[in-house]
Amino acid sequence: MGMVAVSKSDSVCTVKINRPDKLNAMNTDVARELISVFEDLDHDDGLRAVILTGEGTKAFSAGADISYMSKISPDESVEYAKLGQKLTSTVELVRHPTIAAINGFALGGGCELALACDIRIAADTARMGQPEVTIGIPPGWGGTQRLMRIVGVANAKELVYRGNMIPADEALRIGLVNRVVSPDSLMEEAGKMASQIAANSVMGVRMSKTAINRGRNADLDTGLSIELLAWRNCFTHKDRQEMMARFLEKSKK
Ligand code: COA
Repeated sequence: MGMVAVSKSDSVCTVKINRPDKLNAMNTDVARELISVFEDLDHDDGLRAVILTGEGTKAFSAGADISYMSKISPDESVEYAKLGQKLTSTVELVRHPTIAAINGFALGGGCELALACDIRIAADTARMGQPEVTIGIPPGWGGTQRLMRIVGVANAKELVYRGNMIPADEALRIGLVNRVVSPDSLMEEAGKMASQIAANSVMGVRMSKTAINRGRNADLDTGLSIELLAWRNCFTHKDRQEMMARFLEKSKK
């Protein structure tokens, strides 16, 4: 096993960052492996949902690797940030719906990785934040951009400027996570949500993801045009015929 463990049950895949001795901090090897895993998953037509989590009970991921960053040149730092941005964009754009199961610290790049997922469920022991300014840098793996889109500009600026860690209930209050559960039930809750999504129309879910992701960065008129394309695409797919016919059949009984 490398630094990322992948397991599949039915149509749900669980991806686990596996570097617990360093709190699942993402050095270049971990980041590259995660990119490769998500690129492969993108081609897996049998998949319906992906859960991303960290090994152990302490950390989802403590972020970019500080011992590596302490030694690199400005040019190398750009390459590292590009790798991190490629990772978060690859996760964000994977065709399948993604759920971050945040089992502990999600800091810096770890928080940015969770932000790239569609849905975030946190254990009540989780702590999240963007502490980059406490080590002399701004967030660089998409954090200055995705965080404000999710929690609003004021909450994003407070979190980034203060560089503090917030507990799960505070993350829930500002909309950084969708829900908070006990650590023991985290994977079960993530699994239940994944199964519920998996039971729905693959095309309906996929087109919803595309329209929301693309529309989020567009003006309203462009977003509505994207929605129309997504809508039409679903009318070319067998799910629409089968699922609507099933509904009508059931209503007759
Ligand atoms: N990069 C590299 N190594 C990291 C790391 C990171 N981001 N976060 C933790 N580690 C390593 C520690 O150096 C330590 O390694 P060691 O056992 O070889 O000394 C190991 O993981 C355990 O971490 P430790 O700091 O001893 O655990 P803790 O429980 O005392 O503290 C944290 C936990 C999360 C508060 C602390 O590790 C921390 O602040 N990490 C950095 C978080 C951060 O700033 N991330 C943003 C990076 S841009």
